[in-house]
Amino acid sequence: MTALLPEAPIFKATGVGCRFGGVIALDSVDFQVGPDEIVGLIGPNGSGKTTLLNVLSGIYRASSGSLEIDGKPSRFKSSRRLSRDHGLARTFQNIRLCPSLTVRDNVLIGMHSGFRWYDALWTGGRGSRERRSVERVEEILEFVGIADKRDEIATDLAYGDQRRVEIARALATNPRLLLLDEPAAGMNPREARVLVDLIKRIHDEREIAIVVIEHNMNVVMNTASRVMVLDAGLCIAHGDPKTVSSDPHVLEAYLGKRFRDA
Ligand SMILES: Nc1ncnc2c1ncn2[C@@H]1O[C@H](COP(=O)(O)OP(=O)(O)O)[C@@H](O)[C@H]1O
Ligand SMILES: [Mg+2]
Repeated sequence: MTALLPEAPIFKATGVGCRFGGVIALDSVDFQVGPDEIVGLIGPNGSGKTTLLNVLSGIYRASSGSLEIDGKPSRFKSSRRLSRDHGLARTFQNIRLCPSLTVRDNVLIGMHSGFRWYDALWTGGRGSRERRSVERVEEILEFVGIADKRDEIATDLAYGDQRRVEIARALATNPRLLLLDEPAAGMNPREARVLVDLIKRIHDEREIAIVVIEHNMNVVMNTASRVMVLDAGLCIAHGDPKTVSSDPHVLEAYLGKRFRDA
């Protein structure tokens, strides 16, 4: 198992705990992700997967344990700083698109979130910066396969397409680590297969590390090189997808029922 761990992780969480009143959402969890990885995070509902992503992306503050970014101890940082200074981007389990804005404008927002006020001073002025932004948005929309929906109101789209707009918006921040929280939720099997291909292309062609939470086992098993399983806030298994999927603890806690029913 140790051999699987990255030599130089982007993010390393050690003994991370997170509690809400009496609820222990995470109980001393070790987690890391390296620049060349796609890491799968699975576990039953309420097992702490989203909480771990929220801790990594600066939305929740860990109650205990430590975080390192690029080998340096990291105190609590806001999502904005993690995005701007460390190239972290994410999507949400509950889709968070701006209502009444088009697909293109939703993605453009992602791009602007990375700007600093002084960017305007040396990029040849606002006009050329905006032009380049629009070109980049177009390239990203093509890449995720929703360019034909660019002028539609994002929240009017089918669920699966909205999830792809969220991914496009995250890509617009030019990340090096992308956290995906249940990207296949609401997708039909065909859309989920296209998503598998998209996740692989994001990793291979754009060289972005990925952490993916998913209930769709086809998505996890066909993308992740390493999988961690949470159950009631504890890591109960960790390893390559094949080993994890045959681990008796995992079969009992989670996969067994799904695989039996599949
Ligand atoms: N903001 C919050 N306030 C109170 N409890 C929370 C909060 N976020 C998560 N929890 C609790 O933490 C546990 C883990 O939740 P979550 O991380 O969302 O699980 P998962 O994503 O694996 O389904 C659950 O018991 C949930 O109710
Ligand atoms: Mg969740």
